[in-house]
Amino acid sequence: MTKTQTISRRPTFAEARKLLAKFGSPLFVTYKDTIQENVDLYYKYFSSFSGGFTLAYSVKTNNNPLLLEIFRQRNVMAEVCSQSDIRAAKMAGYRGPEMVFDGLIKTDADLLGAIKDGVSIINLESMGEAVRLARLASREKKIVEVGIRLSFPSSRVGLKSLLGISYDRFGVDRASGQAAQLAEFVLCQKYLRLVGLHCHTGSNQKSSSHYLTGINEITSFMKYLKNRHNCEIKILNLGGGFGVPEITAYKIADLATLAIRRLLRKPTDFSHRPFNFRKMASDIVFHLERKLDEYRLPYPRLMLEPGRSLVGNTTHLLTTILEVKQTPKNNWLIIDAGTNLMPVLTFYSEHHDILVETRSKIKQITSIAGPLLYSSDSLVSGRVLPEGKTSDAVIICDTGAYFACQANQFLYPRAASVLIDGKNSRVIERRETTSDLFARIV
Ligand SMILES: Cc1ncc(COP(=O)(O)O)c(C=O)c1O
Repeated sequence: MTKTQTISRRPTFAEARKLLAKFGSPLFVTYKDTIQENVDLYYKYFSSFSGGFTLAYSVKTNNNPLLLEIFRQRNVMAEVCSQSDIRAAKMAGYRGPEMVFDGLIKTDADLLGAIKDGVSIINLESMGEAVRLARLASREKKIVEVGIRLSFPSSRVGLKSLLGISYDRFGVDRASGQAAQLAEFVLCQKYLRLVGLHCHTGSNQKSSSHYLTGINEITSFMKYLKNRHNCEIKILNLGGGFGVPEITAYKIADLATLAIRRLLRKPTDFSHRPFNFRKMASDIVFHLERKLDEYRLPYPRLMLEPGRSLVGNTTHLLTTILEVKQTPKNNWLIIDAGTNLMPVLTFYSEHHDILVETRSKIKQITSIAGPLLYSSDSLVSGRVLPEGKTSDAVIICDTGAYFACQANQFLYPRAASVLIDGKNSRVIERRETTSDLFARIV
């Protein structure tokens, strides 16, 4: 069978039981095979780009060094954006030249570390950062290869924009001339080399449309740099952002529909939006080659640095029902993992499948909450799920991206993580203890 996307492998309840008995609950479980399949898919569909293709993994998505090792072994670079990302990458055996350094804010210490480590490219976010980097590079007398991150020209209206979250702080704007000013500054610096352009076009995307906009933005700027400064870009980085078949980001209309259905006490059924990775990839490659040809530009190397689509569907959170509680309004399942392990904005803004172990055939409209004495620790409501019993397992599916790495210790220590490699399972991050929680108290 030709695969156009990977399928999340999920544990059966018998497997979940065994894992919970062996390693405790709650537990993040990651399938190594699915990581490898996700990586292979990128190589399969993007290697057709004539300029060459480099894949990097966005370390912040899940920075467990033992997972990073799997990426390194498959020649995937590490996209890092903080000192802790760099530390995790080094623990996994990455060296500076195998790292791409992004990040809204890079302190002088970060930049100096990156220069000393010989990081392959530093993607600049602002003029201030460029000035500081130029100073440090000339002090160290080291040539540093840099990229410029262009802001994505977004007019998106989504849940985050309604909450007042705007993306224009990332990168520099091309249309207003800010990007040109930054390029001119870099091109005059003895120790900086402008080799890359970067544009991250958003997250959880299931169509190529934003990538095509990003390509237009980058290639227009490449044309400007070539004509004005005779500068040729060698690395064209389109960021991350690919969606995951089993995770669907809610649109505002979805949230409104779900809210109305809850008010009417109707089931809040939801279907994942279809997604064709192969088509997205071929649209991107086709459009990129067309634009480069149109502007008569030499082909740079295409770089992608996805996170979510490499790990999102590789991992599931196994939990246990602590209490079943019927109120006049709800059938509650209270489980041992809540918004401490499922960060509120991540979990509330995307639909994840939830599987409830059951020995009964009854299904009912169900609400699920975590264990926290905190009103927002309500995970789902209105879903039709099998009737669960105390001690049954509940599997929160496809929690590989932005879950374990954003988990916090509010009221309960963080969960352990286990890697499944064929028939073997091993702990890759031990369960946090209450002693860990107080280790920093002086
Ligand atoms: C610059 C950059 N690169 C890569 C990523 C990874 O994105 P995703 O996890 O959606 O693939 C992000 C996510 O915010 C990002 O900001």
